[in-house]
Amino acid sequence: MDYFELNNGVKVPALGFGTYQMPSSITEENVAKAIDLRYRSIDTAQNYGNEAEVGAAVNKSGIARDQLFVTSKTQTSGYRSTLRGIDESLQSANLDYFDLMIIHWPTVDNLGTYKALEDAYKAGKLRAIGVSNFNSRKVQNLIDRAEIKPMIDQIETHVYWQENKMHDFLNKNNILHESWAPLGEGMSSVLNEPTIVNIADNHQKSTAQVILRFLTQQHIMVIPKSTNPVHIAENLNVFDFELTKTEIETIKNLDRGHSDINWPSSMEQEAY
Ligand SMILES: NC(=O)c1ccc[n+]([C@@H]2O[C@H](COP(=O)([O-])OP(=O)(O)OC[C@H]3O[C@@H](n4cnc5c(N)ncnc54)[C@H](OP(=O)(O)O)[C@@H]3O)[C@@H](O)[C@H]2O)c1
Repeated sequence: MDYFELNNGVKVPALGFGTYQMPSSITEENVAKAIDLRYRSIDTAQNYGNEAEVGAAVNKSGIARDQLFVTSKTQTSGYRSTLRGIDESLQSANLDYFDLMIIHWPTVDNLGTYKALEDAYKAGKLRAIGVSNFNSRKVQNLIDRAEIKPMIDQIETHVYWQENKMHDFLNKNNILHESWAPLGEGMSSVLNEPTIVNIADNHQKSTAQVILRFLTQQHIMVIPKSTNPVHIAENLNVFDFELTKTEIETIKNLDRGHSDINWPSSMEQEAY
């Protein structure tokens, strides 16, 4: 496993396990399987309705809590409801702290919402804080007006929407670029893209592995989701090979410069 370092010195696994649209009835067993296979980072959200099951798998894993990195996301707007929401999430997951809490999507009161994250961070309930689906303008507003610079922006990023401008902006500001939907939500056109099939054959890897390596080699954190045991194992096995500069450039040419999911509007390219 490779690790990246956040701007507050916290180390984060370059690759974690996503749980979006994972029904709560199967989340605990899948997260437990992932941790057994040596995933050390799990991504959940208030909105996913499975924080409790993620927390249960973490607590029963037998792995020291400080070896695991648990992310959740707020779904509230404003200071008070967000502060309350963080406590409710901790209670629901039965955890003393989250390693990362991010604002899931821009709200009508980003500053107030973010202030709740800052206060929970100062109180030791969160080891790192950040945002998701924030474009450069919204991130810049927090950099200018909040007390603590965000540590991560989690945004849709895959080979068809590489977010190169946003990547440079985040890098310049020492904010980690985290990809959601690294496999394009499993789109068959991405996973069967002939250019990537060729590169995958060269390395005797799957196309999913090449895509995850492409992103992590560029210092982008990834959290692929799967409920297929073969895929769960395969997705973790991406740190024993390197793509060449030419292969990276070839995959860069697949960028279409727009979302394939068309959500949320905050990430329209004009705003970047
Ligand atoms: N912040 C946000 O707004 C936001 C939005 C969306 C997602 N997220 C987070 O990001 C995580 C990842 O995004 P995502 O779940 O939307 O999409 P994703 O990880 O890009 O794709 C998941 C899909 O890919 C398939 N898949 C996974 N590994 C595969 C492999 N090795 N070969 C072939 N197919 C494979 C899965 O099916 P199988 O189960 O059959 O393997 C599933 O259908 C989420 O789970 C969530 O934690 C955050």
